[in-house]
Amino acid sequence: MARLPRRCSLTSILCVLLLLSLSFILIGTAWLWRRQPLNGRPLTVPHSQERQPNRHPIDRLMETAETEWYKIMAKETHDLSSAAQAYRDRRGRHPPPGFDEWFSAAQRLDVVIIEDFFDQIYHDLAPFWAIEARILRRQAKHLPHVISVRKGKASMNTDAPKGMARDRMNNWLNMTATIQEWLPDVDIPINFMDESRVVVPWEEMNKYMKVERSSRVIIPLPDVVTALSGLEDVDDNPGEPITVEWAGAASYWDLARVGCAPDTPAREVPAATNFSGPPPTPSGFPKGSYYGFVQNWTAAKDPCLQPDLRESHGTFIEPISISTTHSLVPIFGGSKLPLNNEILIPPAMYWTENPFFSGGEDIHGDDWQNKKSRVMWRGSASGGRNRKENWTRFHRHRLVSMLNGTQVRLAERNPEGPGQGPNFVLQSYQTYRLTVTRYMDLGTWLDSVTDAAVVHLVCFPGTGNVKCPYTDSYFEVKKSLDMKYQYGYKYLPDIDGNSYSGRYRGFLRSTSLPIKATIYSEWHDSRLIPWLHFVPMDNSFVDMYGILDYFIGTGVAIINEEGDKVVEGAHDDAAKKIAMAGKDWAERVLRKEDMVIYMMRLLMEYARVCDDQRTRLGFVGDLDSSMGAE
Ligand SMILES: *[C@@H]1O[C@H](CO)[C@@H](O)[C@H](O)[C@H]1NC(C)=O
Ligand SMILES: *[C@@H]1O[C@H](CO)[C@@H](O)[C@H](O)[C@H]1NC(C)=O
Ligand SMILES: *[C@@H]1O[C@H](CO)[C@@H](O)[C@H](O)[C@H]1NC(C)=O
Ligand SMILES: *[C@@H]1O[C@H](CO)[C@@H](O)[C@H](O)[C@H]1NC(C)=O
Ligand SMILES: *[C@@H]1O[C@H](CO)[C@@H](O)[C@H](O)[C@H]1NC(C)=O
Repeated sequence: MARLPRRCSLTSILCVLLLLSLSFILIGTAWLWRRQPLNGRPLTVPHSQERQPNRHPIDRLMETAETEWYKIMAKETHDLSSAAQAYRDRRGRHPPPGFDEWFSAAQRLDVVIIEDFFDQIYHDLAPFWAIEARILRRQAKHLPHVISVRKGKASMNTDAPKGMARDRMNNWLNMTATIQEWLPDVDIPINFMDESRVVVPWEEMNKYMKVERSSRVIIPLPDVVTALSGLEDVDDNPGEPITVEWAGAASYWDLARVGCAPDTPAREVPAATNFSGPPPTPSGFPKGSYYGFVQNWTAAKDPCLQPDLRESHGTFIEPISISTTHSLVPIFGGSKLPLNNEILIPPAMYWTENPFFSGGEDIHGDDWQNKKSRVMWRGSASGGRNRKENWTRFHRHRLVSMLNGTQVRLAERNPEGPGQGPNFVLQSYQTYRLTVTRYMDLGTWLDSVTDAAVVHLVCFPGTGNVKCPYTDSYFEVKKSLDMKYQYGYKYLPDIDGNSYSGRYRGFLRSTSLPIKATIYSEWHDSRLIPWLHFVPMDNSFVDMYGILDYFIGTGVAIINEEGDKVVEGAHDDAAKKIAMAGKDWAERVLRKEDMVIYMMRLLMEYARVCDDQRTRLGFVGDLDSSMGAE
């Protein structure tokens, strides 16, 4: 039998004491958390998280997001041969020529190397394997606004007008020039417009994708070609331009939905024609959501799955410019709809040092506890060409209206239809079972927790100033607010403009919490995890009050018996956690270094797919050496 060593008794006493004090702390905390009277009225509300057994759906979504992140991080590679192997496993080919240089550049720049982070490149380039390389080279050479690299030197051929278009071209040229000495010879035709340009009908795309899949082979070493052929042929003999047809006049919805799969809800739904009144709004939880909150971000962003977007997002009501082709041509741009076929590159606005978009390279906001627990949004009423007949369907107008306490209060009391606003429809309080509506109406709450306003009404026909006869009575035009002041607020909704939002990277890098709704895809999509790095929101915004209610609660601090301030329903720590995780992560994987490494990988792949020998081209340096070592 083992005897107890004498000294243990002292340890045991200490243990017991420790346990005792822990229980006191627990009991004390429970005491503090008892519900306390508000203005003399007792709070008789049961525990607020009754939907799921004792849990709010957002708790669960945050937990799942974290698990997801650990799974992805486990795939990080730290040496050339495991990176090359991860490539072969995921892509089914040898890496492109120059992969070793890419890998060492990535290591030098301290880039997190996870093959999944480059998925967008393969999604975008895959169909081009079905187009003859020679045709691709010629198209790329002849399209307007081309950035070219020859012998390690980047240059540009464009007549883009001065202003926004030229700025974007310059920024992209600068981005390319940063890595020019490592780049193969390429011609990169650029779309500098806000709106995306290419929609190949799904059936055709499906054929192209099949061709790509069948071309995937890990070819035997003796057959591998390791050097690109270059672009001398098109430089010496550019040939005639290949005609590309551009459509502009039709409704964008009808041009776009041909890119949706035949079995998707949107494919056969024609464009709407009557845009008066508020857009259709889900009467319960958005489809596919987890108790009302976004759980599949890819699906939430996809217009093919949500035909309602044809009449509730400016892109489909009336874009400022449409110039769309249905043929597959290589065009690079900063954002696109999931159904578009552009090749994504990091947006010029993320490269610029212009503080209007970045908030300033070194300004990311104060510590969390020093910020206002409120919602801030400023922006112009862009998103398309809003007019008297259809402004009620534009997403930016809707966001600002739904955050406006007065408008919401008027809607709640609307005798013609309870919950009907001019450009939104409120859901019943029963749907999201908010904490806050147990104490006050939505309007009163919004008055105290939001500051959202347009800075320009972008009227059409133009009035030449910020005023706009058909929307003036609904919106107060406020001064725009530098991003560094916006960072003084904890909650920053971020939604599309004419296309993606150029502020997003700045918001992610800030100490505030971005709440994101979009229908646009960007280069960084596979590296950002919803509910871990940002809060995802449905494009109808019906979940917005649920989101804000979870994080901000009633917004009214009450003093409990112990003299502590508590806010009913608030999950301030959860908000801080996502805000900080997003910031840390953006500083790890959305740096300019990360953008150029993405760009370098993309252009190496693009150079391969433009090469007549593309099926045999590859990097096998890692295999040689490992075979030599055996
Ligand atoms: C890119 O732009 C920055 C800022 O204007 C400049 O300092 C840098 O030299 C440019 N880089 C290249 C490669 O042109
Ligand atoms: C458009 O819809 C509104 C409200 O739904 C309706 O009152 C109006 O009559 C419709 N206009 C046309 C031209 O159908
Ligand atoms: C999310 O939705 C997309 C599109 O419907 C689907 O392909 C994907 O499997 C879904 N993801 C999950 C995890 O359910
Ligand atoms: C928006 O309204 C204007 C004016 O009625 C119309 O010309 C435009 O085509 C509308 N948008 C769509 C997609 O019909
Ligand atoms: C809020 O709505 C009211 C009523 O429509 C309007 O008068 C006011 O200007 C709006 N406020 C803002 C900031 O847009």
